[in-house]
Amino acid sequence: MAINPYLNEEDIPPPKQDYTITVKNTGEVIEVDHTDLPQGEEGREGSLLSILLSKGIDLDHTCGGVVACSTCHIYVVEGGDTAPEPSETEEDQLDFAPAVRDCSRLSCQCVPDGSENVVVEVPSWKRNEVSEDH
Ligand code: FES
Repeated sequence: MAINPYLNEEDIPPPKQDYTITVKNTGEVIEVDHTDLPQGEEGREGSLLSILLSKGIDLDHTCGGVVACSTCHIYVVEGGDTAPEPSETEEDQLDFAPAVRDCSRLSCQCVPDGSENVVVEVPSWKRNEVSEDH
């Protein structure tokens, strides 16, 4: 797992309870077990990117999850408030992402706390990443 030396990994705790992530594009519902989070995936521990990758959803993540690109951009259409606000660095990177909405996040940095279920949507130009073939 890539670690960004400029980020304090202690800033964002992993989820404290189980929740689900629904991928709006496919209707797939992912059960997140907060006691068995994916290890060794890119992005912060408990991040949407790390969980989606562990379930075979091959989202782009060019920089390896260290907030140096915007390729892991997704929409968190429900439950986004359960994750800490984006950092200034994340917001700066999101400026480079196309079709940003209020609910846009870099999935490698977005760590829901598990207090609500989450619904995500993969932006339209990336939808081949969530095809039924994964
Ligand atoms: Fe590059 Fe998330 S993978 S910012």
